[in-house]
Amino acid sequence: MTRDIKIGLFGFGCVGQGLHDVLNNSKGITADIHKIAVKHRDKKRSLPAEYFTYEKEEILSNKDINLIVELIDNADDAYEIVSTALKNGKGVVSANKKMIAEHLEEFVNLQKETGASFLYEASACGSIPIIRTLEEYYDNELLYSLQGIFNGSSNYILTKVFDENVDYQTALQEAKEKGFAETDPTLDVGGFDAKYKLVILTAHSYGVYVKPEEVFNYGIQQLAGYDIQYAKEKGLRIKQIAKVYKVDDDHLALYVMPQFVRENNYLYNVDNEYNGVIVQAAFSDRQFFRGKGAGGHPTGSAVLSDISATRYAYKYEYRKSYRKNGLNIHQDIELEVYFRYLNKDQFVRDRFVRINEKYESEEYNYVIATVKLSDLKKSDYYTQEGTMLIELAN
Ligand SMILES: NC(=O)c1ccc[n+]([C@@H]2O[C@H](COP(=O)([O-])OP(=O)(O)OC[C@H]3O[C@@H](n4cnc5c(N)ncnc54)[C@H](OP(=O)(O)O)[C@@H]3O)[C@@H](O)[C@H]2O)c1
Repeated sequence: MTRDIKIGLFGFGCVGQGLHDVLNNSKGITADIHKIAVKHRDKKRSLPAEYFTYEKEEILSNKDINLIVELIDNADDAYEIVSTALKNGKGVVSANKKMIAEHLEEFVNLQKETGASFLYEASACGSIPIIRTLEEYYDNELLYSLQGIFNGSSNYILTKVFDENVDYQTALQEAKEKGFAETDPTLDVGGFDAKYKLVILTAHSYGVYVKPEEVFNYGIQQLAGYDIQYAKEKGLRIKQIAKVYKVDDDHLALYVMPQFVRENNYLYNVDNEYNGVIVQAAFSDRQFFRGKGAGGHPTGSAVLSDISATRYAYKYEYRKSYRKNGLNIHQDIELEVYFRYLNKDQFVRDRFVRINEKYESEEYNYVIATVKLSDLKKSDYYTQEGTMLIELAN
């Protein structure tokens, strides 16, 4: 059975306006935006003033509204809005990965208690329908790993810097202007945004809830010409990769880090604001999903898909988490990395398990070395000015 949808929308920025356009161009769905809550009273709006409110209660307690769509850029306010709506038994659609990653288990329990549905396909990898795919398709598969480019903004910057010799600040500014970047772009370039998505996808892949602060993330802010030159000489490209994989039957490892990728890697040619996800499973083997990971319309289309799914009462079932498969997080894995440093004192032998190659010159220095993920999590030497850490993986 389907129903008409009356939406109470929170946020009318890049994604909110993208959703409005996408909805206006979708003939097959009867969904109206009834009211829109925004923050700044002095902003010029593209819709008549009667659509807007500055009071969240005007939407949350409106009996005519049967679906809350939360698209604001503040995770704490979003948490208040989403948890209140779910407690009131109202369905919610959101794209707020930070808020979802920080409270996912609580939201799963709230859905169980109230029967309200909470969908958030747009929160991970923009327009790629990866959450529903993991929920539905891979349920009976043995999933070995999931990895990919989960942040459109940093991938856009890497593409510009690497291929077009654009300087980092200009590329970041362009990503902001195109609506790809978060309000606080450190979330993108520091690997936090990709980590929130990884946390969400880990829950839907393995039924395991991980706190974002438990997961190692390292960004692209310190990337310099030396690293690009190294990559180009070796026929590699640099991508910001998030990954989760089974270390053994009982353990998962997960982290976000820049990585050198070879031409035979599916992610090698995922450029600009595109995202790519590789899923490796026992029987389907390796599968690759690629699509736009940022921007108002691609993200709006993922939100629309969730809105549409609420018409037939679709809910995530979280079957894998209810199965209690007992997987634990394992941080003791070893990684092979490239560690670049300008000042020779920045290299301390004891930080590495093995040194596989060492290069020193007047200009810059690097080692190819083996490190423990757990040691990286405990230290911060790779955040010092003049340093950069990149994983070397097959
Ligand atoms: N941009 C993307 O490509 C993308 C992709 C995937 C997911 N997302 C997620 O989608 C969400 C929205 O991102 P965006 O890029 O659309 O952000 P944005 O362009 O900065 O827009 C944010 C909107 O939220 C409103 N707002 C902020 N705090 C509010 C509050 N307390 N109550 C009501 N409205 C409030 C703002 O109001 P004013 O208009 O008054 O300032 C603005 O309309 C974020 O969670 C983001 O992580 C974005």
